Amino acid sequence: MALTLLGSLQMKRNMDSILSWSKNSVVSGKSCSRSVWSTTPVTAMTPKVALVTGSNKGIGLAIVRALCGQFEGDVYLTARDRARGEEAVKKLNSEGLKPNFLQLDITDVSSISRAAAFFRDTYSGLDVLINNAAIAFKEEDSTPYGVKAQVTLQTNFFGTRDMLTHFMPLIKPGGRVVNVSSLWGSVTMNKCSAELQQQFRREDITEEELVELMRGFIQSAQTGQTLEHGWPQLMHGVYGVSKTGMTTLSMIVARRTSKERPHDNILVNACCPGWVHTDLNDHTGPKTPDEGAVTPAYLALLPPGAKEPHGCLVSDKQVQPW
Ligand SMILES: NC(=O)c1ccc[n+]([C@@H]2O[C@H](COP(=O)([O-])OP(=O)(O)OC[C@H]3O[C@@H](n4cnc5c(N)ncnc54)[C@H](OP(=O)(O)O)[C@@H]3O)[C@@H](O)[C@H]2O)c1
Repeated sequence: MALTLLGSLQMKRNMDSILSWSKNSVVSGKSCSRSVWSTTPVTAMTPKVALVTGSNKGIGLAIVRALCGQFEGDVYLTARDRARGEEAVKKLNSEGLKPNFLQLDITDVSSISRAAAFFRDTYSGLDVLINNAAIAFKEEDSTPYGVKAQVTLQTNFFGTRDMLTHFMPLIKPGGRVVNVSSLWGSVTMNKCSAELQQQFRREDITEEELVELMRGFIQSAQTGQTLEHGWPQLMHGVYGVSKTGMTTLSMIVARRTSKERPHDNILVNACCPGWVHTDLNDHTGPKTPDEGAVTPAYLALLPPGAKEPHGCLVSDKQVQPW
């Protein structure tokens, strides 16, 4: 019975979406006109919805837990591995929480575009996007540095970029976008050459220029010339560069959103969760994942009408220098 009700609700949402999209006839485009979000009846009828990438464990799982308790709408736990994702949903179910699940691998563009189509058709967009998924090689891992650079940036920078490319046009007015970065990205940037630092900090740096910087880093790592090209030699240096890129990208996207959708009150921020006890760092961090989720959840839940922070890097709920 419950399943039947759910099924008919889902079918109704789909029908409403299809009707509303066909009326406005912008279904297949990469971007969507603002009028679609603000005038269609389906917007008023659909619940609010939040998505967290890489949320089968660690800080992502804790963010889903926090949102299930505090966000008034549907919350999607997503994972690249279906079994790990469904296991995580069961864990939260055993705590009395009811997240939804969607398979989503941020290094697979077809997985991202399937997910984007799902949110477009089912909810006519997205209210909260938290880009949390990331990887880090262990320092002692003997994988060649150039491979570490390529693989790490593929997920942390390029995968997050693909998520933003597909999902930013779907973010509804009043939406919140949180990119879980790291203060290690700031430490890394501060150790780069003055010329690179100046590039990352430029107010008018474009996404394409940033992509070139990231590609340049991978190439330097593959040819053993990172120092010559101004990149630092640091512990977790590859991870650090991926997070320098992610924070910069978050700021670029925030500036673009302000320019292109000035009245939509969408807030885009990067954040650092702090040093958290997870698999990423072999459980060395002092904070619990729930403590690590506090700042990402705070940014995701900034109240309606809030104007800031926007385009910032935030840690412990405080804007950090860049
Ligand atoms: N822990 C810290 O101290 C710390 C500090 C600063 C920033 N951060 C940031 O916080 C975020 C969460 O880190 P964490 O410590 O919770 O790490 P974690 O426990 O290793 O969790 C990482 C999550 O990302 C997922 N993931 C990896 N590649 C993916 C892909 N291609 N598509 C979708 N999901 C993918 C993982 O899925 P699988 O289980 O399938 O691998 C896992 O669910 C990361 O962005 C990290 O950089 C963490």
